[in-house]
Amino acid sequence: MSHYNLVMLPGDGIGPEVMGEVRKIIGWLEQHRNVTFDVVERPVGGACIDAHGVPVTDETLALCHKADAVMLGAVGGPKWDNVEYTIRPEAGLLRLRKELELFANLRPAIVFDALVEASSLKAEIVSGLDILIVRELTGGVYFGEPRGITDLGNGEKRAVNTQVYTTSEIKRVGRVAFELARKRGGKVCSCEKANVMESGKLWRAEMTALHTEENYTDVELTHMYADNCAMQLLRWPKQFDVIVTDNLFGDILSDEAAMLTGSLGMLPSASLGAEDPATGRRKSLYEPVHGSAPDIAGQGKANPLATILSFAMALRYSLNLSEEADMLEDSVKQVLGEGKRTADIKGPDTKTLLSTAEMGDAVISALSKLHKSRQAA
Ligand SMILES: NC(=O)c1ccc[n+]([C@@H]2O[C@H](COP(=O)([O-])OP(=O)(O)OC[C@H]3O[C@@H](n4cnc5c(N)ncnc54)[C@H](O)[C@@H]3O)[C@@H](O)[C@H]2O)c1
Repeated sequence: MSHYNLVMLPGDGIGPEVMGEVRKIIGWLEQHRNVTFDVVERPVGGACIDAHGVPVTDETLALCHKADAVMLGAVGGPKWDNVEYTIRPEAGLLRLRKELELFANLRPAIVFDALVEASSLKAEIVSGLDILIVRELTGGVYFGEPRGITDLGNGEKRAVNTQVYTTSEIKRVGRVAFELARKRGGKVCSCEKANVMESGKLWRAEMTALHTEENYTDVELTHMYADNCAMQLLRWPKQFDVIVTDNLFGDILSDEAAMLTGSLGMLPSASLGAEDPATGRRKSLYEPVHGSAPDIAGQGKANPLATILSFAMALRYSLNLSEEADMLEDSVKQVLGEGKRTADIKGPDTKTLLSTAEMGDAVISALSKLHKSRQAA
């Protein structure tokens, strides 16, 4: 029997609603698979500001450091729009990412057959799409020094940000990309602007060196300028498997890739930190890409699938439960294939419109069927 420690941070708005559906799946796994979970739940974001005056507490951070995986719902909402900048809900999320040193952000862009019409691109361009963007999350121009705005005193101001990367920052995210590509039986495309930026030149050189020095040559490595990648993602996205890139380009390219799938309520993400050499375990945080959706909070309308798919990533990448991860992803496909939809992904052919809880139940019933058919086989 395997046992795991999970920290759940439901957060604000629809966060607690979608996280509730993950709770049900955890219960199902404990009942039907050889696994148990210790789940600790803590407030984060606005809920934590209300309870403790800060968006995340030191106690929660300590729990997250020790956990096998951390699941987050979403933070923020109009109630906290005017709180002091340093304790705004998003500051809790940024502190979590920083203190857990989550340097690799994984954003899959998968087009489910049943949702191919939700993309704004033609079905033939996106059908079967399954790509993964690995974005460097803790370095680059968002954090580089010097930065700031200075008054030049002659009616002019000057704003500076610094794009900076070191060998070790590039190589550690490069390793994550190669290892994931290897697991997927895929390839890596590394994106930068080596034609106009020194940081891009170093990025390309270090990725090339890593590829041979650390024996990743079974995984194909190509390089592409980030602006070309932006075009290629729209022209023929299926040419890509894993894309690895820096913080700024990754921010933009991962949002662009997400929209190839056309549905915010379906997009999972993972952020990974360094591997502990003693245990082989990485710090990790799993969360849907969407926010707290205050416009639909408390109405049972939220699509829980992005959060459920984020939990599938946790099963795969942090808990080594790849069979369970496959089962969960297959169950989501099954449910969509049966024409079951929440309001955000409904289309002309939608057969059944489900609430948040009904969608969670539908996934569990698909899991049960899959489990029974595997047992019978
Ligand atoms: N990681 C995070 O926690 C995160 C990310 C983005 C935004 N936010 C915060 O969330 C709040 C709202 O931001 P926003 O409106 O720009 O973005 P949002 O993602 O919350 O919502 C955008 C639109 O998509 C819809 N939507 C989002 N998720 C959905 C789901 N699972 N099911 C159905 N519909 C869904 C919403 O109803 C809304 O119409 C803000 O306070 C913002 O700061 C938090």
